[in-house]
Amino acid sequence: MRKAWQVWTVVGCLALTSTQLQVSAGESPREARFLDDLLARMTLEEKIGQLVLVSIGPSHPRDQVNSSIAAGRAGMVLNTVVREDIRELQRQAVEHSRLGIPLAFAFDVVHGQRTLFPIGLGLASTWDLPAIALSGRVAAREAAADGLDITFAPMVDIGRDPRWGRMSEGFGEDTWLITRISETLVDAFQGDDLSSPDSMMAVVKHFALYGAGEGGRDYAPAEMGRRQMREVHLPPYRAAIDAGAGGVMVALNSIDGVPATANRWLLDDLLRGEWGFGGLVISDHGAIGELISHGVAADAEQAARLAIQAGVDVDMNSDVYGLHLAGLAERGELDPALIDRAARRVLAAKYALGLFDDPYRRSGPSTEDALAFDDPSRLHRLEAREVARRSLVLLKNQRETLPLDRKARIAVVGPLAKSQADILGSWSGAASPSQAVSLWQGLVDARGGEEGLSYALGANFSDDPLVVDYLTTYTPEVKIDPRPAQVLRDEAVAAAGDADVVVAVVGESRGMSDESSSRSELDLPAAQAALVDALESTGKPLVLILMNGRPLTLERQAGQADALLETWFAGTEGGHAIADVLFGDFEPVGRLPVSFPRRVGQLPLYYALVPTGRPVDPLHPGKFTSRYFDVAGGPLFPFGFGLGYTDFSLSNPRLSSRVLSRDGQLEASVEVINQGKRRGSTVIQLYLHDPVASVTRPVRELKGFKRVTLDPGERARVDFSIDPTMLAFYSGEGPLETIEPGEFEVFIGQHAEDGEPLSFTLRP
Ligand code: BGC
Repeated sequence: MRKAWQVWTVVGCLALTSTQLQVSAGESPREARFLDDLLARMTLEEKIGQLVLVSIGPSHPRDQVNSSIAAGRAGMVLNTVVREDIRELQRQAVEHSRLGIPLAFAFDVVHGQRTLFPIGLGLASTWDLPAIALSGRVAAREAAADGLDITFAPMVDIGRDPRWGRMSEGFGEDTWLITRISETLVDAFQGDDLSSPDSMMAVVKHFALYGAGEGGRDYAPAEMGRRQMREVHLPPYRAAIDAGAGGVMVALNSIDGVPATANRWLLDDLLRGEWGFGGLVISDHGAIGELISHGVAADAEQAARLAIQAGVDVDMNSDVYGLHLAGLAERGELDPALIDRAARRVLAAKYALGLFDDPYRRSGPSTEDALAFDDPSRLHRLEAREVARRSLVLLKNQRETLPLDRKARIAVVGPLAKSQADILGSWSGAASPSQAVSLWQGLVDARGGEEGLSYALGANFSDDPLVVDYLTTYTPEVKIDPRPAQVLRDEAVAAAGDADVVVAVVGESRGMSDESSSRSELDLPAAQAALVDALESTGKPLVLILMNGRPLTLERQAGQADALLETWFAGTEGGHAIADVLFGDFEPVGRLPVSFPRRVGQLPLYYALVPTGRPVDPLHPGKFTSRYFDVAGGPLFPFGFGLGYTDFSLSNPRLSSRVLSRDGQLEASVEVINQGKRRGSTVIQLYLHDPVASVTRPVRELKGFKRVTLDPGERARVDFSIDPTMLAFYSGEGPLETIEPGEFEVFIGQHAEDGEPLSFTLRP
């Protein structure tokens, strides 16, 4: 048996616990004096006011919000994105409240503000951290220029069950990749100096395991052992915190029976204690009040007490803190030091944001306002197009169907072809759909006019009354064409008949991949599948453009299409970006950040599976092996997969040494050759595997990637360094990582099923 030779504590400040109420190890003496002085002058009600985040909307109309602010009963505001508005609300706080403490303004700036970048899955598909950083920096600049101080992002919940609609916002299934994206986006939002007028505070969410809800149902409980939490789900949140994220938003679900909002282990032991987080902990929308529905609080008072005792500083929109904390403290049922501690954290956040120096730091003077909040000059179209085209993943391209001849007669069909709203994706409240470029518009612009292009709707999103009712109720932009489905299809078939090639744009409306939009099946809705059947029967080359916010089960359509391009929801410049790729002005370079299942019954499906005692041999699946006997094993498209317009082959993988010492390093490399006729790039991926360890280890884990760009016939050797820290894992429930010596396997390939293993020995 192998023995652990190196064990270390991965956390810093184990000494900070709930019983120790002093805050923010990072406070400078000047800041500490400022906060001490301010807190000493505040009444209990004013301190509680700082803990209240009001979401302007039907339950909190404007007049009521104004008077709460003037009375010092609100510390933060959500859901306004217009400078004049923000300035006026700030004026209420600064000029009318007793102490003039400024408000902080928050919004969900998730994948852009006025200019939308691809949704999270699209950003992750770039496998390009500088491009992702660019999206975050532009988003922060635009949002800060709207007067906003705080973004509820990045959303780093790992998604391994695409039935969950919010998978669209996240970055896929892989811990290592999401961890890199998490730290990248925190840096991008916050910049070098949080007090700078174009920086925003990042609030990483949803802590924790919100993506692991049972059955992919939104808000459903997450049940798993602590070892798996630490290994798979927690690293991206931890990375955001290590990168300096100012805030953490608590998940809406329960974890092992205790709602995250009342979970002392999660918020106090782990986040504050083990990880030493000194920033702001914010509840999700209404979540403190929801402790009653969870069944852990009998009433709102108990909910308030549970949440603040667990360590939730700010109550987002449930009114529970504002109404009940004072009474609890006055009756001696709550330690007032808990309120002081939370208020201090809010004030420290405002201090870091520079709001005490200038409350109008981001909203600025009215003389600097743009003519209109959505003035076109405010958009960053070039940046959005650049990132969007990197996010497109080519999944199939038989007989070089793509790139298209720019002069070809094209029939453009499908419910998403002309949609400007859907291409923006969810969480796009500050963007104007009228400024988005649909695919149709992208094609028209690329060809300098509509000549040679025809259009037919072909199908509604769905004909299923349940789905139609859901969509038209919650996403008013969805319009249903009342004509019979057959008439719509016939129109599309007629358009196809007159064309050289068909481009069908199918998938989901953005409302199908959003909060509270879990699906029980992942097929293309039947109406759209019937459209694809009809188009296939025309015999014309068929290009399927997918717009969707989760992997779909596309076995049938993948067989029917000549070319298949996954575009997710590509943002404001999506139509131009897709046209760039369709006409070959830009090589498709995206790679899947998530596996595509064949059938929904395979879920959860991800590449980093741990082995069973009865593994399945794909060539001889046999009986008594761990598989579904009614479906071919594995994904339809694996994690990391994506094609370009040229072909690469990998050969001659090498390790610089067959042994790795405790403080050593070795190089793993492979030769890459561009065997096609065009210049192009591919993403070379490094996976490691520990075949024998004290706990079962995933069959592969991503540990690095590099993009290589080559001319036709050109070759290059791509190498990766491997050191022992990359072999660390959690062998128990505690915070300690171990590295166990022995044999390890290395795979270098172009996706998670590619490459033959090389092995080396880690010396004790
Ligand atoms: C979502 C959060 C979001 C919040 C504020 C909630 O419904 O779960 O992700 O930040 O609303 O908009």
